[in-house]
Amino acid sequence: MMRILPTKSSRRFSMALCALTLFLGGALFVRNAAANNDAADYPAASLSAPTDPTALIARGKYLVAAADCAPCHTGPNHAPFTGGLVMQTPFGGLASPNITPDPTTGIGKWTGKQFYDALHYGIAPGHDWLIFPRFLYPAMPYTSYTKLSYADVMAIKAYLDSLAPAPVQPTPSTMRFPFNQRPVLLGWRLLFFHSGPMQMNPAWNDQMKNGAYLTEALGHCQECHTPRNFLSAMIPSKAFAGAPIDAFYAPNISSDKTQGVGGWNPADLVAYLHDEGNLVKGSPYASMGEMTHNSTSQIPVSDDQDIALYLQTATAPQQVTPPAAASDATASIARGATLYASTCSGCHGAQGAGMGPQMVPNLAGNDSVTAAYPDNVIGATLAGLTPWTAIPMPSFAAQLSDQNIADIANYVRTAWGNKGVPNATPDMVAKLRQRAGVAEKAN
Ligand code: HEC
Ligand code: HEC
Ligand code: HEC
Repeated sequence: MMRILPTKSSRRFSMALCALTLFLGGALFVRNAAANNDAADYPAASLSAPTDPTALIARGKYLVAAADCAPCHTGPNHAPFTGGLVMQTPFGGLASPNITPDPTTGIGKWTGKQFYDALHYGIAPGHDWLIFPRFLYPAMPYTSYTKLSYADVMAIKAYLDSLAPAPVQPTPSTMRFPFNQRPVLLGWRLLFFHSGPMQMNPAWNDQMKNGAYLTEALGHCQECHTPRNFLSAMIPSKAFAGAPIDAFYAPNISSDKTQGVGGWNPADLVAYLHDEGNLVKGSPYASMGEMTHNSTSQIPVSDDQDIALYLQTATAPQQVTPPAAASDATASIARGATLYASTCSGCHGAQGAGMGPQMVPNLAGNDSVTAAYPDNVIGATLAGLTPWTAIPMPSFAAQLSDQNIADIANYVRTAWGNKGVPNATPDMVAKLRQRAGVAEKAN
């Protein structure tokens, strides 16, 4: 009988051929896509660029604040926008570049089209391995900025061009092989990257459209709040459902009424974003503290109202099943109550009420504390917090054991009417210690 099934080796060969075709075909596809300056990608929102140069730069400045470009492009001991921040990725450290208009170390020589390609397609000028466009790593959130309108990207460029050129040499990255080879990003791009523009629902009013644009494109809120798959790509069906970041957890901010922000009083959500917190829902901290400090508190309050409207009414409600309660939850909570009284209550209060919005935030009724995963209480206790307000929260990493911290977390998540699951365990604390880079208490 004739064999119609391919043999193992021919199958392997055809798979290799398929992979090669996909790879090269994909490279050409991406090249062509990047070469077309598509009129189709012009503003989805009704935002047209001002023609007056001063107004254009002012719009660019606003957009750069709403997009929070500065913190990532400003490393320790670096002047604003000169790069040098090393972001830790699962594949090694990635340094942000200088985006001031310096002609040699910055982007002073870039054309408008090259700049658009970087934000819209994640492609920088130049080539790798001769034929590949220079793919940017998605740590630069072009996966969200791709939704920006062409006019707005040009306004951002006009603003950056108006800054003083700063000749600051790049900080080296420490990405591991093969991830330090940019062409390996091709497969990832083909699988997971869809370029914009922003899709607006025609039924939305102007406030909702503005909120959608600020949330999805500029504020890139999904980049931290949406869970990622094993290849670090955001999972679209789980938009805003919550995700771990550093030693913290960016909670569910979907419209879900119990787990997300759908049940928040809109005024509390606006206060959280614009006034950096109140005594109802706690205050923003860790990377969210930076986000609100540099971005959402710097834009008009009407923008934050539009973000709140969009999150609370237009996003799909998401429910996440939290890990089960610790096996010794009842005993753990009892131990935690004692530790809380001696370690935390001096600042946060016996009833978790805090001391004032710009002083010490409340832990009672604070959704970031009762989120599906207990990382936030653990992360804050391990790493401490550097607020923009009166006093810092100290680190207790050296003073408390992993078990102590798990116990405190389980108490805080369930005390005073808080409805979190007491699911913190010493193992979780040990993992977060590594991420926070703090050693355990010497026993
Ligand atoms: C979450 C951090 C983060 C944010 C926010 C961010 N960037 Fe980046 N950006 C990076 C990193 C990291 C790179 C380097 C990527 C690489 O090497 O592939 C980068 C690369 C770039 C590049 C390419 C420069 C070059 O020399 O190749 C440009 C241009 C750029 N960013 C502009 C911006 C602008 C404009 C904004 C705001 C609209 C912004 N970035 C926001 C992290 C960020
Ligand atoms: C760089 C990562 C990052 C980005 C970007 C980010 N967030 Fe967050 N967010 C966090 C983290 C971490 C927390 C948990 C700490 C806290 O509550 O402050 C958080 C908490 C929140 C909370 C409080 C939720 C709760 O249950 O208490 C809200 C609301 C929120 N973010 C909204 C937003 C919005 C709106 C945007 C976009 C404009 C955004 N975030 C962008 C990391 C991020
Ligand atoms: C010296 C006073 C002080 C002590 C003691 C203290 N905290 Fe804090 N805590 C703060 C301050 C101030 C903030 C606000 C920090 C910020 O906004 O970045 C804060 C914030 C927090 C947050 C984030 C909540 C939010 O909405 O901002 C958590 C969680 C937290 N503390 C838990 C604890 C736990 C658990 C303990 C005991 C192990 C503790 N804290 C002890 C001062 C303190």
